[in-house]
Amino acid sequence: MTDLLAPAGASVRSAAVAPPTEGLLPHEFTLGDSVYAPQDDSFLLIEVMRAETDVIAGRRVLDLCCGSGVIGIAAACLGAREVVAFDINPEAVRSTAVNAADAGVVVDARRGSIDEALAAGPFDVVLSNPPYVPAPDGAAGVVTGGDMTATAWDAGTDGRSVLDPLCRAVPGLLAAEGVCLFVHSETSGVDRTLAMLRDGGIDAETVAHGHIPLGPVLRERAEWLSRRGLLPPAARSEMLAVVRGRR
Ligand SMILES: C[S@@+](CC[C@H](N)C(=O)[O-])C[C@H]1O[C@@H](n2cnc3c(N)ncnc32)[C@H](O)[C@@H]1O
Repeated sequence: MTDLLAPAGASVRSAAVAPPTEGLLPHEFTLGDSVYAPQDDSFLLIEVMRAETDVIAGRRVLDLCCGSGVIGIAAACLGAREVVAFDINPEAVRSTAVNAADAGVVVDARRGSIDEALAAGPFDVVLSNPPYVPAPDGAAGVVTGGDMTATAWDAGTDGRSVLDPLCRAVPGLLAAEGVCLFVHSETSGVDRTLAMLRDGGIDAETVAHGHIPLGPVLRERAEWLSRRGLLPPAARSEMLAVVRGRR
């Protein structure tokens, strides 16, 4: 494992990668200081990608909100012709480049978001595990004291500060007959994602679900989320969904 990641003063961690990626990805990923460790949402999306290899092999793929790069690297390992990855966190961009090199694949990791991806498009496949957790204070991509850790999950009061613009951008990001796959939680409105994609002329459906125990951030926000009808009362788990859109 390389530690090229660390700019002066930053720490580097590593994360073990879980069973759905067995035989596809290296067992360990390197993470810059504030970079999201691959976890259940990442793995659910990769499970769907593995089941839909024909959608990815030979295609030009976008991984938006790449974090460690796990999604784009999985796409490259599944035979994508080209993978371009964007994240607003520069440590994520560096982590993606390092992890791709460790996995022996090429991923073009760039700092940026939806506008930069639109300029780099169109793509045959658009993949994203964006931030999607509703934040009581409306935090969304806000950097507190330079620490970007919460940028990986905080997504405004409705959890849709990235999802809404992403859904609106899909018709511009996708090439003819292109496919998008997004993962997010029930707390940020799966039906709204489906409706927004359909409004854009995209044929959209939910193709996978998974239930996971509430993590520390959601446990702390559970009562607020349930008061707003975004989580059932006394919930101990949340549902994740993978939405597929076809042009
Ligand atoms: C939930 S993490 C997912 C990381 C990785 N794709 C995975 O599946 O493990 C979300 C990522 O989105 C990035 N992000 C947040 N807001 C963004 C935006 N507006 N544009 C691009 N990336 C963003 C964060 O820095 C973080 O790396």
